Amino acid sequence: MNPAKRISELTEKLNYYNQRYYMDSVSEISDQDFDLLLKELESLENQHPDLKLPESPTHRVGGTITKNFASVEHRYPMLSLANTYNEQELIDFDERVKKGLNGEAYEYICELKFDGISLSMTYENSIFVRGVTRGDGVRGDDITNNVKTIKTLPLKVAVPRGGTFEIRGEGFLPYSSFEKMNADAEAAGEESYANARNAASGSFKLQDSGEVARRGLDAYVYQFLSDEEVFTTHEESLIALKNLGFNVSPTWQKCTDIQSVIEYIKLWDEKRYSLPLATDGIVIKLNSIAQRAELGYTAKNPRWAIAYKYKAESKPAILKAVTYQVGRTGAITPVAELDNDKLNGKGIHLSGTTVKRASLHNANEIERLGLRIGDTVFVEKGGEIIPKVTAVDVSKRDMLSTQEIVYPTTCPECGGQLTRKEGEANHYCTNEKGCPPQIRGRIEHFIHRKAMNIDSLGEGKIELLYDKGLVNDITDLYDLTYEKLFGLEKVIEDELTGKIRKIGFKEKTVQNILEGIEKSKQAPFKQVLFGIGIRYVGATVAEKLASFFKNIDNIKNADYETLRTAPEIGDKIAQSIGEYFQNEENQIFIERLRLAGLQFSAQDEVKEFEGDQLTGKTFLYTGTFVNFEREALEQKIEANGGKVVSGVSGKLDFLIVGEKPGASKIQKAQKLNVRMISEEEFMAMLA
Ligand code: IVH
Repeated sequence: MNPAKRISELTEKLNYYNQRYYMDSVSEISDQDFDLLLKELESLENQHPDLKLPESPTHRVGGTITKNFASVEHRYPMLSLANTYNEQELIDFDERVKKGLNGEAYEYICELKFDGISLSMTYENSIFVRGVTRGDGVRGDDITNNVKTIKTLPLKVAVPRGGTFEIRGEGFLPYSSFEKMNADAEAAGEESYANARNAASGSFKLQDSGEVARRGLDAYVYQFLSDEEVFTTHEESLIALKNLGFNVSPTWQKCTDIQSVIEYIKLWDEKRYSLPLATDGIVIKLNSIAQRAELGYTAKNPRWAIAYKYKAESKPAILKAVTYQVGRTGAITPVAELDNDKLNGKGIHLSGTTVKRASLHNANEIERLGLRIGDTVFVEKGGEIIPKVTAVDVSKRDMLSTQEIVYPTTCPECGGQLTRKEGEANHYCTNEKGCPPQIRGRIEHFIHRKAMNIDSLGEGKIELLYDKGLVNDITDLYDLTYEKLFGLEKVIEDELTGKIRKIGFKEKTVQNILEGIEKSKQAPFKQVLFGIGIRYVGATVAEKLASFFKNIDNIKNADYETLRTAPEIGDKIAQSIGEYFQNEENQIFIERLRLAGLQFSAQDEVKEFEGDQLTGKTFLYTGTFVNFEREALEQKIEANGGKVVSGVSGKLDFLIVGEKPGASKIQKAQKLNVRMISEEEFMAMLA
């Protein structure tokens, strides 16, 4: 079949299935068949990059890298809304509307105020062409490739009367994706985000759209703008957008007077916690587009709409006790154990969930709040998922029945000494080698996907190995044998449900564990360096150190100043590395791992390909490759004398085209007559 025809047919089909799946929750095709069609499309697009359509579903998986987002002017400025905080201010707003419309009848549409990132999406001739952030309202950043990863956003739609228009909406990271992303980041020793809004904002600004796609962003749309007059009411536009396949939150409601607006506010005060994202209020908009024009704008806000902000719900609770959690690094986190005033163990009901615990962060926070056990405290849940103690109700304090909080000096888990370094807020348990949660935590970190990637082990199995005395230290993993593992078992009771689960090591499990451990000996140095768990050395820092210092001995022997010369190594990290290697136990630990056969040198990774076949040639790549990660490809080019450049220009010798290449690079290369080669051709150049 003619490739152009097949590409267009596949694009249309896949977009249709996507739409049915993400918007209507209907699978008209099995995952397998969907993937087959997608693969077929990808392969056709690779063979004919010029035939790839702008609305192709292959854009959704990302794969482009944007170094700097271009700043673009909004065709229609992105205004903000005036805020109100109480009923009276709303009634005043309604009075102004009534007066402005000289007694005409009017209606409002109420919507939730979604706490995400404002986005402006432009469609030209029915095709999505640009996604832009709000910026300062006049100009924003062009984040088109990242917006394209939103699966619920149609990339092609047929709007009646002209296909050129703008859609405004709120981009967000659903709670479920946020929690997964943060858990991954924490396990990888990287910083986690305080709330889903910050995570969404950070994700929309990532340079690698492939990573953006993995995070699973979404958007609700709530505004249609065009030069033509397409809709006469807002209600009409919301219904039409929904029918066209846009993700319109079904939470909107038409209200014919301000009293029903106030009822809507009350209705959603609690109910909003069942939504997949944070909301911080509601938005009230005049329904008629003609009446909106009559009222117009102030310098900053429309006169036809207003936001009502909910107060963060705050409720009293009794501080029953403070407990202390010990993390992988030995950091102690005090936790407020809370209950209602009947002290019946049921906790308090706050913003749609039951709350029994709240983080107190550190000793300073306890001091700042002036807490005593038995106090009545106020607990609040704002945009964050974890509730916080905001204040003490001192009027309820009875000095006889409340007790002072004495911060422990020893670890609640192992009895080890606690210390607090100058300038740091956290206390740490110093018994690194003997404290159970620290030991288990270090092993869990070591097997993590970004470290040794031993996925046949997990939290439960590690606990079992630790409890049976088989693994007291990471190095013990490499002494495990079939005989030691076979037949081990443990019964685990789920604290909440009381359900009993049994972990048992049968033949297959044991084989998988041993194979996983064996395979870990091939994991590259940067992963080993991350896995051994030096404080402040996360996956990214480990990668930088590995490529700068090449092997563990160079890092070990580097003094503070030398460490600081490495890219992105600041004072805190350099100090921490220095301290780590001064400790003799750590040196023995590393020697044991070296003996076990782990990789402590980065040179091995590129050595076998060294040569000068590529000397004097410049390279750039686009897309993904079968044999290399991006970084490995760069290493290979450089190890063979070539140079990697950052953009397509007339001086570029070769553009290596992988799977899912970026259309703009291909187009530019074609225009400038740059030679394009496949991954195989590149490999042939090395041979
Ligand atoms: S309408 C002319 N509707 O709130 C104003 N905005 O301060 C058009 N927002 O920047 C905005 N949910 O990011 C509108 N249902 C909703 C909204 C909403 C959240 C955000 C939006 C805007 C800010 C207004």
